[in-house]
Amino acid sequence: MDNPRPPPEAFGVRGRDIGATMSAIVLRQNAPAWTVGAMAQPGDARPSGLTVAVSGRLIEESPMTATDIFRKNHRTIRKALVSLDRALLMQSPNWAIIAKNLAGYLEIELREYWGSEERWIFKPLAETGPDGAGVVAQMEREHRDLDARLNEFKALTRGPIGAEIAPLVREKGVALVKEFLHHMFLEEEVGFTLAEERLGQTYLEEAADRVLLLKEAEKGLEEPAAID
Ligand SMILES: [Fe+2]
Repeated sequence: MDNPRPPPEAFGVRGRDIGATMSAIVLRQNAPAWTVGAMAQPGDARPSGLTVAVSGRLIEESPMTATDIFRKNHRTIRKALVSLDRALLMQSPNWAIIAKNLAGYLEIELREYWGSEERWIFKPLAETGPDGAGVVAQMEREHRDLDARLNEFKALTRGPIGAEIAPLVREKGVALVKEFLHHMFLEEEVGFTLAEERLGQTYLEEAADRVLLLKEAEKGLEEPAAID
């Protein structure tokens, strides 16, 4: 038989947390044809999601998709950007330290997820037609522009921020926040929405697995090596 469906335990539990005290049986219905290392193709049939039996009650749960993960990342980044904007505009006493710390934080956050976004969402979306390719070209252009702006801001905040460069740091910081927020808005409202329509739930769920695996692998690499 081609691509036999794996046992339910092969999928594990994802989606919203289920209390440890609850006895939950998780079954994924109509799972796609699945082989080790194979990805679902964009546009594959949408599965019915998870059916969770909790205390005899059946609840439909949707597994997490790659766009869910990226939207969640955006929420975290948006909070950091709002803190930066507030510190710059209100000129709080420690604004220079906040600017320095947030420049470093944003760089780490971006390094972690921009590559995944481009690989698992942009690339397949660009292949769905000229309109998808147009949206992707714009989002990629914005990644490059933001990368350049962030590098510039990091360089400006690297050393002591004296009175002579303070206005420039504020100006560049406020512009960075504005562009960043605009970019995330475009991705969520246009790019991710189009990807959800075009690529299909099955593809996006499996892409989520890849994104999470990569995150785990990167975490492992960051941990210090054991010394005998
Ligand atoms: Fe992005």
